[in-house]
Amino acid sequence: MTYGDRPANLSREETRVRGNVRRTIDQPSILVAEDDIATRALLRAALERDGYRVRDVDNGADALTEIVRFPPDVALLDIGMPSMDGLDVTRALRKRPSTALLPIILVTARGRLEDKVAGLDAGASDFITKPFEPAELLARVRTNLRLSAALSRLENTQDVLVALANAVDAKDPLTEHHCGRVADWALLLAGLAGLDQEEREAVGYGAVLHDVGKIGIAESVLTKPGRLTDEERVRMQRHPIIGAEILQPLRLGRIVGPIVRAHHERWDGGGYPDGLRGEEIPIGARIVAVADAYDAMIHDRPYRASLSDEEARAELVSNRGTQFDPEVVDLMLSALDESPADPDGVADAYTRGLRLPRGSE
Ligand SMILES: [Fe+2]
Repeated sequence: MTYGDRPANLSREETRVRGNVRRTIDQPSILVAEDDIATRALLRAALERDGYRVRDVDNGADALTEIVRFPPDVALLDIGMPSMDGLDVTRALRKRPSTALLPIILVTARGRLEDKVAGLDAGASDFITKPFEPAELLARVRTNLRLSAALSRLENTQDVLVALANAVDAKDPLTEHHCGRVADWALLLAGLAGLDQEEREAVGYGAVLHDVGKIGIAESVLTKPGRLTDEERVRMQRHPIIGAEILQPLRLGRIVGPIVRAHHERWDGGGYPDGLRGEEIPIGARIVAVADAYDAMIHDRPYRASLSDEEARAELVSNRGTQFDPEVVDLMLSALDESPADPDGVADAYTRGLRLPRGSE
C-alpha cells in the first residue's frame, strides 16, 4: 500500500480527520488495485482530487484481503495483476454475501473486448479503459455509487420487514419461527401454482408478515390458553385489518396488504374480515391460508396439542373446498409428498423468504 506524504505515525484517514472531519466521514472510499505504479498514481490522484478516500494495493490477493477486511464503497480493479487477476478477485467477491453487491469497476486495456465479456461474466459492474480520461472515471464512479446507494436502501426496506415479522414472533413466543416456516411453504406453493416473479415475491412478504397485525392485539388474548370469549374473538379477528394498515405506508403494501388482509378469508365465504368467497380472495392469501393452517396444526398452540402430519393432512382434505381453495390443498399435499415437513425446522425463510423467493435462486 502507498501512503503518500504524511507524518509516519499518522494514517491517511487520521491526517484527513485532523484537516476536515466532515469530509472524511462523508466521502465514499475506493479501493484501487493496480500493479502499474504510474497508472495507480494517476487513478489515486484523480479520485482524491474529487474528494474520495482512496486505499491502493498492487496485486489481486491483497485487494481481496483489503476489501473483505474494510469493505470500500467502490472497488477499482485492474484485470492483469500478479497473484490473482481482477477477474478472479471479482468472482471471489461475488461469492461472499457481504460483497455480492459491491460496485466493481474493472480497468481494461483499450480494445480488449474479450476482457469485457469475461468481466461481465465474472460479475463486474462497469469498466474503464486504459489510458483513462479522469472525467469518465469519475462519472463511472458516481454512477456506481448511486446504484449501490439505491440497492442498500432497498435492502433496508427488507430489513424493516424482517424486523416487523420478528416483532410479531417476539410477542408470542409460542409461535416462534412460525412466520418463517409459513413463508417457506407459501413460496413453494406459489412456485407450484405457476405464479410469476412479482406474485411470488408478494406471497413471500405476505407469508412472513401475515400476522403482523397481532402487534395490535393484547398479549392476554394472543396467548390465552383455552377458548376465547366472543368479545376476545372479535378483537382477535381484527388482526388482518390492523396488519394491512401497518403495511399501507410501504410501497410494498400495495401488493402485500391485500394478502395480509385476506389470509383468514374462507373459500366458502365464511371467513373474515370481508367475507370474500372463492377467487375473490387473492391467490396469495389462499396460499398463505393453507400454509399457515398446516404449520399451525403440526405445532402446539395454547388451546390444543399438535397434530401429526397425517392428521394435519386429513384436516386439510376435510376442509378442501370449504375453508381452503381445493387446488391449493392439492398442491400442498403433493408438496408434502415431495418433501415432508420438519416440525422442528427453524426455517431460515425468515430472511430467505424476503430475499430469495424460490424459483429465482
Ligand atoms: Fe392470522
